[in-house]
Amino acid sequence: MTKRLKTVLITGGVKRIGLSIARILHRNNYNIIITYNKSSKQAKEILKELNDESRDSCKIIKVDFSKISNFSKFSSNALRCFGRLDVLINNASRFYPTKINQVNQKSWIDLIDTNLKSPLMLSKGFHSELKKRKGNIVNIIDIHIDPPLKDHIIYNISKAGLLALTKTLAKDLAPQVRVNGVSPGAIMWPEADENKVKKKRDILSRIALKRVGDPNDIARAVLFLIKDGNYITGQNINVDGGRKLNM
Ligand SMILES: NC(=O)c1ccc[n+]([C@@H]2O[C@H](COP(=O)([O-])OP(=O)(O)OC[C@H]3O[C@@H](n4cnc5c(N)ncnc54)[C@H](OP(=O)(O)O)[C@@H]3O)[C@@H](O)[C@H]2O)c1
Repeated sequence: MTKRLKTVLITGGVKRIGLSIARILHRNNYNIIITYNKSSKQAKEILKELNDESRDSCKIIKVDFSKISNFSKFSSNALRCFGRLDVLINNASRFYPTKINQVNQKSWIDLIDTNLKSPLMLSKGFHSELKKRKGNIVNIIDIHIDPPLKDHIIYNISKAGLLALTKTLAKDLAPQVRVNGVSPGAIMWPEADENKVKKKRDILSRIALKRVGDPNDIARAVLFLIKDGNYITGQNINVDGGRKLNM
């Protein structure tokens, strides 16, 4: 078996899209560090699955990015897992509507700290290590930042900020670190929307490929960027089946 040299940290990676990213990168010989918050059961399952496949190749860390106070302690602990970090994938996200009259301090902190502040603070915490390794940052954004999603004012701001962060870091961490975004279209329905048949039908009718995507579509885009995208930085790839053609 080939020795695993490189290490990736994926935030919110024990379910759904993050889980697909973790599995694909593990199959491509990366050691995996996954963070989770509430999904302890799924975290233990993926830990067992990946370590059964390849001994000591996966670690999990519990963290709530809306409450964390000491990012440098978090970064040091994460670096100790495998003694190096080559790739940071900011995938963890909160998603729910906030109409203008629902905007308050609690939803601002919850959405902004999870979706925007934590990618910034993790990038800060890992930037020296990523420079040393000539590494990568991939931020999972959203096609809905432009045009924005109606009645999701704070979520939209968080993801638009994440695109700004992606481009800024691509400049500031160059030439050693490449920083890119992947923006999913309709890949997995939000858990709260599972029963909304009409809403799903409307969205499907506006996707050129007439189907939702698969989490592996996102994972393959991430793998491409970090493995083969050697001359790509500061970009945001829409993986949306052509949905942006009809927004
Ligand atoms: N699903 C789609 O079709 C779609 C479309 C557009 C964009 N995206 C983007 O793609 C990424 C993945 O999407 P998804 O639908 O798979 O995401 P998700 O299931 O909504 O969330 C991913 C993970 O984020 C973690 N998380 C949420 N709040 C957290 C916090 N405060 N602290 C730490 N972890 C937290 C959760 O971990 P726990 O479960 O452990 O709490 C969750 O499992 C997200 O960035 C999302 O915005 C997805």
